Amino acid sequence: MIRTRRKSAEDSLDISSLTPEAIPDDWYTRIFDGRYLEVDQRRNLPSKTLAEVAWLEDVGELSRPSRILDLGCGYGRHAIELAKRGHEVVGLDLSSVLLNKAESDARKARVRVDWRQQDMRDVPQEGFDLVVSMHTSLGYFPTNENNREVINAVRGALNSEGRFVFDQIDPRKPEVQQRQRLERTEFSDGTRFRKLSKFRVREMLWYGLYSYDDGPRAMTWPFRIRIQTDGLGRVTGVYAFASGQESRTPHVRGEPQCIGA
Ligand SMILES: C[S@@+](CC[C@H](N)C(=O)[O-])C[C@H]1O[C@@H](n2cnc3c(N)ncnc32)[C@H](O)[C@@H]1O
Repeated sequence: MIRTRRKSAEDSLDISSLTPEAIPDDWYTRIFDGRYLEVDQRRNLPSKTLAEVAWLEDVGELSRPSRILDLGCGYGRHAIELAKRGHEVVGLDLSSVLLNKAESDARKARVRVDWRQQDMRDVPQEGFDLVVSMHTSLGYFPTNENNREVINAVRGALNSEGRFVFDQIDPRKPEVQQRQRLERTEFSDGTRFRKLSKFRVREMLWYGLYSYDDGPRAMTWPFRIRIQTDGLGRVTGVYAFASGQESRTPHVRGEPQCIGA
C-alpha cells in the first residue's frame, strides 16, 4: 500500500538556504541509480505507465507501427510497452543502472528495443515518426542554451511528419507555484521518499532535494530543472500534458510537431 501525504512537523529536510546556483551542474549524472529505480517502480505503477502509453499513442497519432525514440527512457517502462504494441523503439538514457534493468525487462517481455547509453544532446538523427520524453526528463542542463540544444537536436531527429511529445511538471498548476512544496510517499516497509522543492517562476526553475530513507541507508540529492518553454514555441503545433490537462492546436502538415509544456 502507498500513502502520500503533505508536509508534517517531523519532516527534517531543509531547503531554506538552498539556491539553484549551489547545485552541481552534473546532478543528473548521479541521482538515477539503484535507489531511484527501487522507489520509482513503486511510485509509477504499471497501470499508470499503461495509461501514459495509451496517451502517447493517441496524441502521437500512431495508427500504424512507427519508429519511436524515447529520450531519457530510464528503465524503459514506456519503451518496452510501445515495443509490445508493435513499434520499433530506440531507448536512450545516460544511466547504466536503469538501462541494465530496461534490457533485462525487455528480454523477459520478449521484445526488442534498441537501447543506447548516451547524452540526449546527441539525439540520433534517424528520421523518427515520434520522439517522446516522459516524466520531466528535459531541462536538466544548467543553461537555457544547453536545453535548447536538445530541442534543436530533436527537431532534426524527426521525419517531416514527425512529432515530439513530452510530459513534464505543469508550471501553471498552483501547487507547483507555491513557495515551497513537499511530496512525501511512505511505503508499507517503512521506506520514505520525500521531495522538497521550490519554483522560481521568473526563470521557470524547479529545484530542491530528493530524499530516500529506509532506516540504515538515508540518501539526499539536490536537483534543478529548467521547465522547458524556451525554444519550444518555434516547433510547437500541439500542446498537451500527460496529467490530463490538455490543449491542442492544429497539426501543421510537414512541420515537426511538439506536444509539451
Ligand atoms: C525522471 S527520469 C524519467 C525516466 C523515464 N522517462 C520514465 O518516465 O520513467 C529522467 C531520466 O532522464 C535521464 N537523463 C537525464 N539526463 C540525461 C542526459 N543528459 N542524457 C540522457 N539521459 C538523461 C536519466 O538518467 C533518467 O533516466
